[in-house]
Amino acid sequence: MNITGKHIVITGATAGIGESSARILAEQGAQLTLLCRNLDKGAAVARAIVAAGGSEPTLVAMDMASLASVREAAQAVLEQKRPVNILLNNAGVVNTSRKITVDGFEETLAVNHFAPFVLTGMLLPALLEAPGARIVNVASAAHEFVRDMGFDDMHAEQSFKTFREYGRSKLANILFTRSLAERLQGQPITVNCLHPGAVSTSLGAQNKGLAARILPLLLKPFFRSADKGAETSIYLCTSDEVSDVSGAYFANCKQKQPKPWGRDDAAAKRLWAYTEESTGFTYP
Ligand SMILES: NC(=O)c1ccc[n+]([C@@H]2O[C@H](COP(=O)([O-])OP(=O)(O)OC[C@H]3O[C@@H](n4cnc5c(N)ncnc54)[C@H](OP(=O)(O)O)[C@@H]3O)[C@@H](O)[C@H]2O)c1
Repeated sequence: MNITGKHIVITGATAGIGESSARILAEQGAQLTLLCRNLDKGAAVARAIVAAGGSEPTLVAMDMASLASVREAAQAVLEQKRPVNILLNNAGVVNTSRKITVDGFEETLAVNHFAPFVLTGMLLPALLEAPGARIVNVASAAHEFVRDMGFDDMHAEQSFKTFREYGRSKLANILFTRSLAERLQGQPITVNCLHPGAVSTSLGAQNKGLAARILPLLLKPFFRSADKGAETSIYLCTSDEVSDVSGAYFANCKQKQPKPWGRDDAAAKRLWAYTEESTGFTYP
């Protein structure tokens, strides 16, 4: 698909895989809206894109740990009054201790699942104005660390485990993708998700402690670069091969089966209802 002049909205474009994705999509001629927690970092990314010959991105402030901020950002995108051809839900967080958002949610679940759920729902009208629109959700093979969503302790009140909470939030991305694809059946829009590989980025770098600082250095030789990590995101945003594919999970630019709990439609349905109730946002 030629993306020259196409409007692409990206979350988490201020670091890692999202920053690479934004740069590569801009190089291919896309017009970007970057939803950024840190507008200074967003401005630096925008300057680099313009310096490389890309169109100047629009910057919108959004802290995904606050649903009010997510709603405001979505509203600001809608107020641009232009169709959204692609929504790339890329931003994510890994925490080594339990944190609670201003809304009272466990932060990993809130940032990685609740925020893109609401953002996507609010942007649906603008996506539906662009025939052939695509929603791309950056999930993870980390869903393999868990076996279910843990509906009895969604906010890790009983106990908090870094990889379990992160894995569940990424499982939520996969289940959300399945449910949304089903709901959008018959409409000119697709939604897919992906694992970007193990990528050397700043993911988890905000955590304190020696292990949090040393682990990335030890793992770095085994990890791929952010540009390489962006490949499957770019593929799902641009390739003609996937124009008619929806509700699927990809890794290394190939469709792959997620683990069985990533194909559990009853869990996907339950998660959808739980998320609508928790966020107070009901899909149109
Ligand atoms: N790295 C890997 O090996 C790997 C593997 C599988 C999946 N993934 C997934 O890939 C995606 C990108 O991760 P990455 O590795 O590129 O991480 P990263 O380098 O840490 O970048 C994360 C991005 O998300 C943004 N973000 C985090 N919390 C936010 C919040 N509350 N509000 C708004 N934006 C927020 C960050 O903004 P700031 O710049 O302000 O911090 C940054 O732009 C994530 O969904 C992650 O789960 C990564």
